[in-house]
Amino acid sequence: MSLFDAITAAAALPRERSESLPAGAYLDPAFADFEKREIFRKEWISLCHVSQLAKPGDFVRVDLADEPLLVIRGKDEVIRVLSRTCRHRGMDVMPSGFGHPDEGNKRVVLCPYHLWSYDLTGKLVGAPEMQQAEGFDRSEVCLHAFRSAVWEGFVFVDLSGEAPPLDERLAGLKDRLLGKWRMAEAEVVWSAHWECAFNWKVLVENFMECYHHLGAHRKTLEPFLPAKGCWTEPFDPAFSAMHLPLKEAMQEEIRQAGTASTAFPIFPGLGLDDCLEWSIYLAYPNGLFFNAPDRVYWYRIVPTGPATSSLLTTMLVRPEAKAMPDYEAVLAREVQAGIDFHLEDMEMCTATQRGMASAGYSPGRLSHLEETIWQLQRYLAGVIGRAGA
Ligand code: FES
Ligand SMILES: [Fe+2]
Repeated sequence: MSLFDAITAAAALPRERSESLPAGAYLDPAFADFEKREIFRKEWISLCHVSQLAKPGDFVRVDLADEPLLVIRGKDEVIRVLSRTCRHRGMDVMPSGFGHPDEGNKRVVLCPYHLWSYDLTGKLVGAPEMQQAEGFDRSEVCLHAFRSAVWEGFVFVDLSGEAPPLDERLAGLKDRLLGKWRMAEAEVVWSAHWECAFNWKVLVENFMECYHHLGAHRKTLEPFLPAKGCWTEPFDPAFSAMHLPLKEAMQEEIRQAGTASTAFPIFPGLGLDDCLEWSIYLAYPNGLFFNAPDRVYWYRIVPTGPATSSLLTTMLVRPEAKAMPDYEAVLAREVQAGIDFHLEDMEMCTATQRGMASAGYSPGRLSHLEETIWQLQRYLAGVIGRAGA
């Protein structure tokens, strides 16, 4: 059976009979190429949050599916997703590994090779020693701009330029669930980059299932978000959503007090019932949100190879949090708590990927607490069907 057929067959199983995918889904270079072409170059992919681009010239650098990208806010306040490929001879204007930061502020974008310079909208504004190049008109030259959209404060790109409108695609996620956090108003207050020795789906699956609270997070998350009570919303072609009710005694305390006691201010769109749980969302394929009443962890994972990926982890809070007298100390404590459970996940993901390459691996049966993994398989089967593979 081909890998495509095996994934389609796994996705077609009823949830009660669901199982993990063949190792090829996490190892096979041809399948990774398929994903690059059919997923990462065709779907809306979230790149950063608007608070990371607060001022004109603020930028975030991302490499996605062989495209070196520059997300940058112009003097006109418009956020654009530009190619970093120089219009002279193709140099990456901010190559990684050569001292160019992943985030920062630029007045102009200068190609280090021959010093062609571009303004914040990507227009060529300087090109030395080109006076003898006949017919060369600087004003006709511009870095390539990709189709982009801002949704709930997150900047998305569609490399194909042909994906269905993002608002329509994620309408259900916004209206029913995620919109309560009003994330356009939130601020990224912490971020970290991680180069990962695992396939991107290993992390997405790990992020989306709560079964592993029992083992991986038995000291960090399980004590207040017990695996047993978690439940998943029905499959939607655009997203997965899972609810993680707080431990019963903590719910009772909150009900009694009429409010939740949290480290940061509670997001104002949330009611008391929303404070009785945390929740997890996946905007397919890789937009990952872990939402608490007072903070949201947003992760961006992009493949860098069949068995490697690049991960950005962030935490967003309400802007009012910064006015708290003990803000710095609370932030440091909460960031550390986030890193603690993240490192537990990194160990699981890294060692799971190693298992995929072993002769001892074969698809294993899934718990009902891993329904989101089966939902991701259904998403992948949809992509396979769409591509006619
Ligand atoms: S390649 Fe950029 S200036 Fe020559
Ligand atoms: Fe985890």
